[in-house]
Amino acid sequence: MINIPKGTKDVLPQDAYKWHYIEDAARKTAELFNMKEIRTPVFEHTELFLRGVGDTTDIVNKEMYTFKDKGDRSITLKPEGTAGAARSFIENGMAAGLLPVKMYYITPAFRYERPQAGRLREFHQFGIEMYGSASPDADAEVIFAASSFLSRLGIKGVKLNINSIGCKTCRASYNAALREYLRPHLGEMCSTCRERFDKNPLRILDCKEEGCKKITRGAPRITDYLCNECSAHFKKVQQLLTAGGLEFNIDPDIVRGLDYYTKTVFEFVSDSIGAQGTVCGGGRYDGLIEELGGNPTPAVGFAAGIERLILLMENTGVPFPEERGVQVYIAGMDDESRMQAFKIVCALRAAGISAECDHMGKSVKAQFKYADKIGAQYVIALGGNELASGVCNAKRMADGATTPVMISDICGFFKGLE
Ligand code: HAM
Repeated sequence: MINIPKGTKDVLPQDAYKWHYIEDAARKTAELFNMKEIRTPVFEHTELFLRGVGDTTDIVNKEMYTFKDKGDRSITLKPEGTAGAARSFIENGMAAGLLPVKMYYITPAFRYERPQAGRLREFHQFGIEMYGSASPDADAEVIFAASSFLSRLGIKGVKLNINSIGCKTCRASYNAALREYLRPHLGEMCSTCRERFDKNPLRILDCKEEGCKKITRGAPRITDYLCNECSAHFKKVQQLLTAGGLEFNIDPDIVRGLDYYTKTVFEFVSDSIGAQGTVCGGGRYDGLIEELGGNPTPAVGFAAGIERLILLMENTGVPFPEERGVQVYIAGMDDESRMQAFKIVCALRAAGISAECDHMGKSVKAQFKYADKIGAQYVIALGGNELASGVCNAKRMADGATTPVMISDICGFFKGLE
């Protein structure tokens, strides 16, 4: 037998309703915030992520699914949704259209990580991206969209942590201070972090190695090095969140695992799903569009992990509304009535009513049992008597009530119930 690859999961038919619920909530939230969907390819040129996500990140250094295609091009399965959306924004000249551009996606993403609860190698994200506004309003708008999505799902007890990691200007003085602090510990750090020391010392704060984590605990904090503009921006974001009634903590340790962030970064975190508690993360990334070859365009967004949301909802008892079963099951007692059942089911479906009949040669009793198991709302049994009289009984499964219905008017009867 061939098994599923490590770190991936099937969504089985009996669980798909959970995904539909979350995806529906995502689409409804996006609609409320006037966002349109974007779909970008599952694979892109590797270069996009090297420049977009950043070549000092764990994602690029250790986790990408990269391969050569038959044309000898280096291709990578997307490890996240932002870089592809940004590439498309530039390639399709969206900056010349109406701004801001607000878009969302629901996409698989791939990272070669060590699988554990809430951490997979193929996972799915609902993300939104907003291009064109440098205003703190946009940061707040995106954070409110994330919060609105989580509330719509019925999720409670998730904490919002925010931070600012500044811009190029403040990053220079911060990097200098950070290097000064880290220099005496260089010998104790992992080889990746030693490389990061010169290239991008901020990344060292995001290292998952215990030894490096210990060293960075006492490191200087970026929030103490923000320039006037970044500091004012961060304050305004906080005022807007407060004005909108959203509670938050300032967490100076949030640096995020991707290089493109500037100014505001944020995470919604739960303590009910183990070590991988971040259900949603995002922030501002004002340099990415330019980095990828577009005209300088401010941007801000977030992504939430669907598997982590499902885990959180299951662990905390947040219900997933079950999807409705078929509206009607038509049971047949003999060859002739089975043929009629099949014909009626075809007509019902053509009229937009979900319907089912037997395909397994079951007895009438077994057909009723099956109808009950699949959650059919009504069952109609056809036999010689019904066919002769032209009248059948529609049994409502919720309470057993029956209504006589002309066989020729079954479609009309169910249409009338809608
Ligand atoms: P991220 O924090 O890397 O940000 O991922 C966002 C979310 O995806 C995480 O909070 C988590 O719920 C989920 N996630 C990440 N890795 C895994 C994994 N291995 N298994 C399961 N779930 C995972 C980004 O991807 C940014 N592109 C977000 C963004 C959009 N920033 C601005 N715009």
